[in-house]
Amino acid sequence: METMRWTDEGILELLDQTRLPSQVVYIKCANHREVAAAIKRLAVRGAPAIGAAAAFGLVLAGRSLKSLSGDEFIAGIRAAAAELAATRPTAVNLYWALERVTRRLETAASRTPDELYALLLDEALALYAEDVASNRKMGLYGQELVPAGARILTHCNAGALATAGYGTALGVIRAAREAGKEISVYASETRPLLQGARLTAWEMIQENIPVTLITDNMAGYLMAKGRVDLVLVGADRIAANGDVANKIGTYGLAVLAREHNLPFYVAAPVSTIDLNLASGEEIPVEEREPEEVTHLAGLPLAPAGVSVWNPAFDITPHRLVTAIITDRGIVRPPYVETLQKLFETKKT
Ligand code: MRU
Repeated sequence: METMRWTDEGILELLDQTRLPSQVVYIKCANHREVAAAIKRLAVRGAPAIGAAAAFGLVLAGRSLKSLSGDEFIAGIRAAAAELAATRPTAVNLYWALERVTRRLETAASRTPDELYALLLDEALALYAEDVASNRKMGLYGQELVPAGARILTHCNAGALATAGYGTALGVIRAAREAGKEISVYASETRPLLQGARLTAWEMIQENIPVTLITDNMAGYLMAKGRVDLVLVGADRIAANGDVANKIGTYGLAVLAREHNLPFYVAAPVSTIDLNLASGEEIPVEEREPEEVTHLAGLPLAPAGVSVWNPAFDITPHRLVTAIITDRGIVRPPYVETLQKLFETKKT
C-alpha cells in the first residue's frame, strides 16, 4: 500500500490515513494548499511522510508558476514553502524537505521556469526514493538489536504509512522478520487519534506479523508481567543531546522501560535529527484541537465545555534512550558526541 504517489498527470495522490483501517481511499491534491490541508488534518502523517508530501506540494506550486520569470518562480516557491511549513511544527523532516527542495532551485545554474519545475520534480522524486532506501538501511542496522523471539512494544505508527515506504521503527521490525526472527509486536492504541490501533495494527496484520493491541494505560502492567522484551518507537525530532520528540505517550513508555530494565530504542533517519536545537526543551510541541480528546468519531466522550490539554507529542529525555537507530548506523550515549559524528561521517 503506497502512502502517496505522484501521477503521470502531475497530481499527488495521498492515502487518506484518517479513514484507515475501514476505508482505503486516495485523495487527489492538485495544488500545494490541498497538500497543506491534508498534512494539517493528518490525512498524511508521520515525520518522513509529511516531508515527502510537502516536497511534492512544492512541485504542485511550481506548476502554477511556470508562466512567470525565474526569480518570480523562486519567490512563489518560497511563499508556498512558508504555507506548507505552517502546518505542523514538531516534525523537523517537514522543514528539512522544504529547505532541501528550495535550495536545489536557488543553486540552479539555469533559471527558466520550465527547467526550475523539472528540478523541483526531480528533487521531490529523489527525496521520496531516498526515504525508502534509508528506511531499509535503518532496518538492517536496527534488526541486529532485536533478539530472535523478541516481543516488541511500539507506539503510534512509525511504519510504511508514516514514511515513503517500509517504515522506521516498523522497518526494523520488518527487517528482523526478514532475517528469520520470530518476533511479535504489541501496538499501543495511541490516544487520541489511535494511530497504533488504526494504522500499526493494520500494517502488521497486512504482513502477517503477530500483533496484539493494548490501550495506552496497559503498558505498565504488560511490562510488569514480563511480556515485553524491548520498546521501539520512531521520532519526529531529535535534539543535539539526544532528547526525542515523538507521539504523546512515548515519554511514559520510556520511563516504564527504565523501571523494568528494558531497552528503549528510537529509529529515525538523520533527517529527523536537528543539531540546531541543543535539547528537547527547544523543540516546539504541537497542541491540537480539544475535540480530538472530547470526541471519538464525532461522538462526545466528555461533558461539553470541559477544559482540555492536547499536546500531540512529548519529549523523552536522552538519559532514557538506550540507542538511536539511524540510516547511518546505531548511536549510543553520549549523544552530544555520537549524533554530531553522524553528520561528519561520509554518507554511505
Ligand atoms: O501525529 P503523527 O501521526 O504525525 O505522529 C507520528 C509520530 O509520532 C511518529 O512516531 C513519528 O512521526 C515517526 S514516523 C516514522
